[in-house]
Amino acid sequence: MSVAIWGAASAQTPPQFSDAAHLGVTTCAGSTCHGALEPFRNSNVAQNEYVLWQQKDKHSKAYKVLFEERSVRIARNLGLPNAHTAEICLNCHADNTTHRGRQFQLSDGVACEACHGGSSGWLGVHISGASHQDNLAAGLYPTDQPVARAKLCLSCHIGNQANKFVTHRIMGAGHPRMSFELDTFTAIQPAHYVVDKDYVERKGAPNGVQTWAVGQAMALAETMAAFLDARRNPDGFFPELVFYDCHACHHPMSNVRWEPRASTGLGPGVIKFNDANALMLRIIAERVDPGAGRALGERMLAFHRAMTENRANSLREAAAVREIASQLVNKFSGHGFGRDDVRALATGVINDGLNKNDFVEYAAAEQATMALSAIVSTMRNVGLLNEAQYKQAMGALNKLYDAVAKDEEYKAPTFAAALRDFNAALPATTN
Ligand code: HEC
Ligand code: HEC
Ligand code: HEC
Ligand code: HEC
Repeated sequence: MSVAIWGAASAQTPPQFSDAAHLGVTTCAGSTCHGALEPFRNSNVAQNEYVLWQQKDKHSKAYKVLFEERSVRIARNLGLPNAHTAEICLNCHADNTTHRGRQFQLSDGVACEACHGGSSGWLGVHISGASHQDNLAAGLYPTDQPVARAKLCLSCHIGNQANKFVTHRIMGAGHPRMSFELDTFTAIQPAHYVVDKDYVERKGAPNGVQTWAVGQAMALAETMAAFLDARRNPDGFFPELVFYDCHACHHPMSNVRWEPRASTGLGPGVIKFNDANALMLRIIAERVDPGAGRALGERMLAFHRAMTENRANSLREAAAVREIASQLVNKFSGHGFGRDDVRALATGVINDGLNKNDFVEYAAAEQATMALSAIVSTMRNVGLLNEAQYKQAMGALNKLYDAVAKDEEYKAPTFAAALRDFNAALPATTN
């Protein structure tokens, strides 16, 4: 896949805001199309995508949760008449496009066209058996390309404008905390596609570590864009609190656990920006583009310091961080992430956890765990782990997942111990 195509994809508009009409799930769900009960054997694609989505994918329930007690309470606390009629909820919990075909139903939630694009332009081409490239040219959204996928998923999993964003007020009303890692979340959605020989022929071989890397760079760029957006920040007298480390404020006072961190340079008792994506991104950049890695570390330090000074400095430094993150999106989308990179990145994440104090905070430990999850799968795919070694690594990875299973019970020493065991479970390396 050429860089030029990825470059074009990054300019792509996510489906909700493009001009194509969304024809509705029933258009995709015919039994000879994507609504088969069992995977088709003689077909390029499984064709049971609809059933998988309906039964296993939370996106099919995204609209229905707006009727549940939790949503009723959120709406009441925010003074909204209803969650299921409020733009702010519908923009993420449904395919809230203004271009609706006759069979389109908002109640289908985050359905096929919310990700694959309104099908009015491409459906005809697509059912005629056209190639993937022809489908893309007719307007199918390029979900197979990491930059485009990151942009799509983050448009709801971070939010990309004022009326499509979960503020601290919405969290305060009862909305769950959000976290996201592109490669892990693609896998647990769950994936309704199989990467086999013909998939690779049509779309190229996906590289989980590249997907992770692009996702981290895009997440930091989008977070800084939100921070810089005057409609999202500040929130009256205070900054918008959703940008900060939730657990810095939300933990019992008896839990005295502050430790200095070289990568923030901040003292105790200071409200701290959630820098989990930046920590991961620095590790990746230090491997792929050491100059950018150093620059990112320095700019993040300057950003953390600026946040203790004044708003003008904070905005200036946020813009500088966003610029580096955006450059890294492009850099990573054209980088191969071969075996050496994959192994070195495993070491990078583990070393930062063991030698620095960077994972004392829950959000960073959670990101590190998902990062290692993406890395372990890719190590298997590129032949760095045989089946027995993969099993052993997965066992150790599950301990890391246990250590971050409940944010309110997170303990940094338990996580560090699991990280040491994980390190020992990987085959030895010269890195
Ligand atoms: C920026 C997009 C966005 C907006 C705006 C948004 N949500 Fe969500 N919501 C999400 C995502 C993403 C999740 C899943 C979080 C996760 O598990 O990582 C979620 C989860 C939830 C859940 C928990 C669902 C479950 O299965 O446990 C409820 C309830 C909810 N949202 C209600 C609302 C309501 C009510 C509104 C409007 C006031 C709203 N949301 C606005 C994106 C959004
Ligand atoms: C939350 C986003 C999302 C939703 C909703 C979604 N998909 Fe997908 N879909 C993806 C991603 C990501 C991929 C993998 C990348 C790719 O191959 O494009 C994919 C891949 C596919 C493929 C490609 C399989 C292959 O071998 O090339 C088909 C077919 C598909 N989806 C059909 C559907 C159908 C039908 C629905 C609705 C029932 C649906 N998708 C809903 C994100 C989504
Ligand atoms: C239109 C908005 C939207 C888009 C686009 C979107 N999501 Fe979601 N996603 C949601 C909402 C809302 C939820 C919560 C649904 C619920 O719990 O009822 C969710 C939930 C999820 C979950 C379940 C999380 C959990 O805690 O169990 C995964 C995994 C996920 N999304 C992955 C993805 C991936 C990968 C992409 C991109 C290919 C994507 N999403 C694109 C809105 C979106
Ligand atoms: C700077 C400190 C600070 C940060 C950072 C912060 N919060 Fe809060 N949070 C508060 C305060 C203050 C309240 C209001 C408490 C009250 O009403 O008693 C609150 C309330 C809440 C509530 C409602 C609790 C209740 O009593 O009903 C939730 C849920 C919540 N925050 C979630 C989050 C999440 C998720 C994050 C991170 C994305 C976060 N907060 C970040 C200070 C913070």
